[in-house]
Amino acid sequence: MIRKAVIPAAGLGTRLLPATKSQPKEMLPVGRKPVIQYVVEELAAAGIKDILIITGHKKRSIEDHFDEDPTLQNASPELCPTASSMHVQLFYVRQSVPLGLGHAVNLAKDFTGDEDFVVALGDSIIHAAKPHELLIRMMKCHRHNSAAATIALERVSHEDVGKYGIAALEDDSTEVSRIIEIVEKPQVGEAPSNCAVAARYIFSPQIYGALSRITKGYGGEYQLTDAIQLLIRDGLPVFGVMLRDDEKRLDIGGFDTYFEAFFLLALTDPELGKHMLNWVKRWLQVIERQCR
Ligand code: G1P
Repeated sequence: MIRKAVIPAAGLGTRLLPATKSQPKEMLPVGRKPVIQYVVEELAAAGIKDILIITGHKKRSIEDHFDEDPTLQNASPELCPTASSMHVQLFYVRQSVPLGLGHAVNLAKDFTGDEDFVVALGDSIIHAAKPHELLIRMMKCHRHNSAAATIALERVSHEDVGKYGIAALEDDSTEVSRIIEIVEKPQVGEAPSNCAVAARYIFSPQIYGALSRITKGYGGEYQLTDAIQLLIRDGLPVFGVMLRDDEKRLDIGGFDTYFEAFFLLALTDPELGKHMLNWVKRWLQVIERQCR
């Protein structure tokens, strides 16, 4: 039973300027909710009770979002969610220097102690009918294999491998496989596969030993992927769990994927989805006429 999770949310969001000039990317709305609310809801649905959010400069509105708001006392939990309405406890720690994802996760050491824990990146939504089922499958795999790390993976196009951590699998044909190599943002011709790390991880406390041994890697930052590669090199069991066809990772790290995420959530909104679809169809006709 994994009870604890860490949400790294300290990234600067420079690829989303000016939208992120004074607000965190994790607070950008996708449909009706800010991104990080989807992440907290997914964790809560997977049975996580305690969540540490790693914040930083200009990230205070994340804390405000999950607080009680006395001015909205009569609003339903749906309109005014709080940590307690989601049945989780939230904790915060600041990453005061932007030294990368590996450095950020290392800040969770006291919080997670000797327990296995989930890491869910605060700028990615798992879009599915039941988004938490991916974590449940990962937890089962992690326990079954007494893994040091279990990582969500998705196939990406070969031209895109340089945007992700990329894993080589022992068996490429199964949903769950041991990972034999992992590399952060490889060059297109050097990627060991097209299986990309998909923003959800489970770690045993062994990850901290590896994090203490990494040096600065891709982008001059301490990379979580490099620590995972050390676990593999030490011969420890590291497993990958593939996202299913009906599970999609929505990444809001850049405008291209942020726009895609917003469109998808708006078009599938239970109340306004049909209206949005008709609106898009009308606009497509207008734009096509203008292009002729
Ligand atoms: C991070 C990780 C990368 C992973 C990606 C999406 O990169 O370092 O390995 O593939 O998230 O989960 P970032 O998008 O922060 O550059």
